[in-house]
Amino acid sequence: MRIDIITVHPPLLESPFSHSILKRAKEKGLAEVNLINLRDYAINKHKNVDDYAFGGGAGMVMMVEPIALCIEDLKSKRDYDEVIYMSPDGELFDQPMANKLSLTKNLIILCGHYKGVDERVREHFITKEISIGNYVLSGGELAAAVVSDAIIRLLPGVLNDETSALSDSFQDNMVAPPVYSRPAEFRGWKIPDVLLSGHEANINQWRYDQSLKRTKERRPGLLRDGE
Ligand code: ADE
Repeated sequence: MRIDIITVHPPLLESPFSHSILKRAKEKGLAEVNLINLRDYAINKHKNVDDYAFGGGAGMVMMVEPIALCIEDLKSKRDYDEVIYMSPDGELFDQPMANKLSLTKNLIILCGHYKGVDERVREHFITKEISIGNYVLSGGELAAAVVSDAIIRLLPGVLNDETSALSDSFQDNMVAPPVYSRPAEFRGWKIPDVLLSGHEANINQWRYDQSLKRTKERRPGLLRDGE
C-alpha cells in the first residue's frame, strides 16, 4: 500500500513513520509513505501556498493552484483509490473506516492548514473528507498520522501476531479486556486466577465477559449501534 501525504510541514510527519510498527511496515515493503512538500508546487519564487480570503476576514486560505498541480502530478503517475482531505468537518474516523481504507492500494492525504483550503479543491479533487474528532487541530498533519497508523497496522504481515489486530478494541464493537504481565503478584495485587489456569476456553470466556462488562460501563453506545 502507498500513502502520499501532501503537507506544508513534512518534518512534522517524519517521526511517526520512522519508529516501531510503521517503520517495520516500511522496511518489509508492506507500506510506503511519501511526504510531499506542497511548497515544491508553489507558483511564485516566495514559495507561497496560501493567500488572503476573498471577501475579507481573518486567516489565510490554502490556494487552489499549488494543490491542483501537486495532485495532478501524483495522479499522472498512478491511479488513486481516494484523495482524502483531513478536516474537522469531515466524516468521523472510526475502526470500520480504517478497515475499509486498509483494503485500498494508493491514497493521497491532503493536510489542511490556516483557515482551510480553497473550496474548489474540495469540489474538484477531494473524494473523501475525514475528521479524527470533534476538536480543531492546528493542521491536518497529526490527524493524517493517526489515520495512516490505524490503516497500516491492519495490513497483513505488519503486526507480528496476525490475530492481534482482530482482537483490538472496536473490531467487534467492544472495547478490549484487561491484560496483565509478569509478575503474577505485585505489592499484593494479584491477577485473576483464570489467567493462570492454562484453560483456554475459560480464559476466552473470561476475556469476552470482561469486554462486554467494560463496554457496558464505558462505551454503551458501541453495543447499541456501533457509535
Ligand atoms: N484538521 C484540524 N482539525 C482536524 C481534525 N479534528 N480532524 C482532521 N483534520 C483536522
